[in-house]
Amino acid sequence: MKSAILTLLASAGGALVNAQGYLIPSNPFRLVLRSINGTLDGTELNACHQGAATEGVCVDTERIYSGSTFFHNTSIYHSKPSNPDASLTPGILYSMASNMANPLFSPGNSSYDAVYFDEGEAMYLPRYYDDTRTPPVYLTAVVRVENWCVCLTKINYLRETVVWKIRVRGVPQNPTCQKVRV
Ligand SMILES: *[C@@H]1O[C@H](CO)[C@@H](O)[C@H](O)[C@H]1NC(C)=O
Ligand SMILES: *[C@@H]1O[C@H](CO)[C@@H](O)[C@H](O)[C@H]1NC(C)=O
Ligand SMILES: *[C@@H]1O[C@H](CO)[C@@H](O)[C@H](O)[C@H]1NC(C)=O
Repeated sequence: MKSAILTLLASAGGALVNAQGYLIPSNPFRLVLRSINGTLDGTELNACHQGAATEGVCVDTERIYSGSTFFHNTSIYHSKPSNPDASLTPGILYSMASNMANPLFSPGNSSYDAVYFDEGEAMYLPRYYDDTRTPPVYLTAVVRVENWCVCLTKINYLRETVVWKIRVRGVPQNPTCQKVRV
């Protein structure tokens, strides 16, 4: 997996992105958990139904299902991960009342959130800005943040899903969350 930018739905660049098109698919890949919890470690992630035409990223600790295949579509500027069966683009659902945000795949190209992969194939989000100090500053080097957790969530169904903890400080407010790498 390249350290290519995985751009999931963006509003700002939407028009440009659509005009450009994300029509060059990468090789297919799996998303695999790393965790100190042996039940989670090595588990492949599944796309799972979370509502009408909406797929979440679920954990099947029983390992009944094999993991889903993902790929990212590339344009000249960006690449965008999607679920190949449905060609769904990812976005992140969050609530102002929670510090936990849920990655979801849904149809449409109008907005997306970006994820990135480092040289070791770990999925991260980049941090450009430090507002934990006074005054806040833009960072001179991008910091890679890996705030992935596995938590019991209920979007429409009670499921163990991959969730992003918002903020660089603090602990997940969902007490079921376990820290993982993806
Ligand atoms: C990804 O690329 C394939 C093949 O070109 C295309 O059929 C599909 O619609 C694209 N998906 C997205 C989300 O752009
Ligand atoms: C390990 O993960 C499984 C699945 O989420 C969970 O049921 C179990 O309680 C976890 N074990 C520990 C020691 O946290
Ligand atoms: C996303 O955009 C691509 C390229 O413009 C298009 O082929 C695809 O059908 C679009 N996908 C959706 C779900 O609208």
